[in-house]
Amino acid sequence: MEQTRKQLIDLLAESKDQYISGQELSKRLNISRSAIWKHMNELKKQGYLIEGVTNKGYRIISTPNSLSLDSLQWGLNTEWLGHQLVYEPTVTSTQIVGHDMARDGAPHGSVVVAGEQTAGRGRMKRYWDSKEGYGLWFSSIFRPKNLAPKKATQFTLVAAVAIAEYLEGLGLDVKIKWPNDIFIKGLKLSGILTEMQAEHDSVEYIIVGIGLNVNHDIRDLHESVQHKATSLRIELGEEQNINDVFQGLLLHLERKYDTFISEGFKHIKSEWESKAYRMNEWLDVRTNTTWKAKLIGIHEDGAMVVKDKDDKQHVLYSAEILW
Ligand code: BTN
Repeated sequence: MEQTRKQLIDLLAESKDQYISGQELSKRLNISRSAIWKHMNELKKQGYLIEGVTNKGYRIISTPNSLSLDSLQWGLNTEWLGHQLVYEPTVTSTQIVGHDMARDGAPHGSVVVAGEQTAGRGRMKRYWDSKEGYGLWFSSIFRPKNLAPKKATQFTLVAAVAIAEYLEGLGLDVKIKWPNDIFIKGLKLSGILTEMQAEHDSVEYIIVGIGLNVNHDIRDLHESVQHKATSLRIELGEEQNINDVFQGLLLHLERKYDTFISEGFKHIKSEWESKAYRMNEWLDVRTNTTWKAKLIGIHEDGAMVVKDKDDKQHVLYSAEILW
């Protein structure tokens, strides 16, 4: 049933603004006209606006601004990322589901999206607020060949550059705070959590979890972050279609991953540095203690390179830039 509906959506998406006749749909999907009609009604219930014109056929006018497997897939034009897609209305964390899926053999490029997370997690074991209906919370599974575990941090930076480029396309001025924060005008819009499973010095799989605030108003953000977080709706001044945001992000993520695999990290490194938050400024950096450091770039393997007050260089693999 779900497979047929996906095929139906794919056919409607392929024909874009053109009508596709009920007869054609029933032939291509090998189901009766009344079965097509039932599927159409189901899609309408999900919030699709579908136009049906006698002697012409059907076309989708608009997709719903809520999440479902169908709406996430409709019009997704990645080559491999997200082709294996799971949508769960409620989960603890898509990272947990992602690990389960990967252990059960989910292929490279599988993605799990949640409507809400009851135990969303951030870096350094922090809680990640993931209320239903406001944001995008999803995890992607990658199975890179022969990647040393040390290089897994690079994945966070690949994802950060991908997200930044997508957002720049929406007209936003984006900065990336090492390693995983996406900032707009000094406020956090999105975070990335990269986790991996490695064996014998090689990565078995990597799970890249992305959380992005989409349709929050200030008051919808968790009280503790209202002064330091933002959403696309706040920044762009209008509600965004959450499915479009998902598909745009996935497309950029796929492209960046492909570039990373074919050309190596060099290209990503220079892009990342050009978007770095407070580059060459004095920052408070927390390692074991909190100290003043100036960010001067990132290392070949994704670590942060800073200078201290005595002009001594440090390569930091685990640290936090304070606000
Ligand atoms: C951070 O900024 O510390 C990282 C936040 C990552 C949040 C995302 S939401 C989807 C995925 N599932 C989780 O539980 N966390 C990540």
